[in-house]
Amino acid sequence: MIGDKKIVFSGVQPSGNLTIGNYLGAIKNFSRFSEDYKTFYCVVDLHSITVRQVPAELRRRTYETLALYMACGLDEKKNTLFVQSHVPAHAELGWILDCYTMFGELSRMTQFKDKSQKHAENINAGLFTYPALMAADILLYQTDLVPVGIDQKQHLELARDVAARFNQIYGDTFTIPEGYIPTDTMKIASLAEPTSKMSKSDPNPNACVYILDSKDDIMRKFKKAVTDSDASVRYSEDKPGVSNLMTIYRAFTGKSLEEIEREFDGRGYGDFKLAVGEACADGLAPVREEFARLMADKAYLEQVMKNGADEAAYYARKTMSKVRRKIGFVN
Ligand code: TYM
Repeated sequence: MIGDKKIVFSGVQPSGNLTIGNYLGAIKNFSRFSEDYKTFYCVVDLHSITVRQVPAELRRRTYETLALYMACGLDEKKNTLFVQSHVPAHAELGWILDCYTMFGELSRMTQFKDKSQKHAENINAGLFTYPALMAADILLYQTDLVPVGIDQKQHLELARDVAARFNQIYGDTFTIPEGYIPTDTMKIASLAEPTSKMSKSDPNPNACVYILDSKDDIMRKFKKAVTDSDASVRYSEDKPGVSNLMTIYRAFTGKSLEEIEREFDGRGYGDFKLAVGEACADGLAPVREEFARLMADKAYLEQVMKNGADEAAYYARKTMSKVRRKIGFVN
């Protein structure tokens, strides 16, 4: 707790253009906590170097991710918005938690297995210990609630296990965090391959709709989206493409699945895809406008980063001094 408020922490990697999966699964939900919780939203640049990044792009995307947080409704005065590498305690606690995280636990992480397949030439130690750093992000702020998509559930559970292990050895040190995983939008699927998740690192540009895509691009991508030959707009496990489009349409319009089925009853996929594209483009238009406005003032973004890092560092220091004392480091 900070004051009388519970604590929320989440992060997004500046490792690619953010997709509507990131938006619907995570960022769009962040602002609902701004009033009643103490919120920390971080651009996790330390995490993104587990995969090779082009330095100039990493720098640009770090600004962009911060601007997107703000464009998606996060008021910098009500939320602590910051860049992970600006608060060195993340790396410090990350190392410490490495020593309380087991090889076997890390070996079971599906994201590690996926990424080591995709980047077979660069299976570095950071990629392997990534979840311990993520645990550090969360535990550093004594976080109660972590809003994420379903793909992060395994990492979150590891963070809980590591916190409990540490508490067991040293006595109460870390709050055990809970996930906040939105059931409606926790897994937005790829438009090209609807059984796998939409991922910002997917090399196929038609698989993803980016938050900053133009309306033309959005319409084109939905038009090309993989569906099936059944030609009925119906939500079903054996219709992953259509079900995914319905999930996206529901998220942008607020309509229920039954309403959507009725709306497109007897109409083909062409009409339906057009409607999904329109709803998505309309929903994102204000974000795009606000993003452009924010990116035009880099000095202001830097000010926000600095204020956020100062505030985050203040709370991080409190946890770190407790951790050091418990472990037996000389003060
Ligand atoms: P990242 O950068 O891959 O994704 C950011 C957020 O977007 C969610 N997400 C999705 N949700 C629904 N459908 C999708 N297709 C989809 N793709 C991504 C992710 O679940 C995530 O919430 N390890 C994290 C970053 C991180 C973090 C943290 C998160 C580092 N430290 C501490 C929470 C707390 C990651 O790689 O997210």
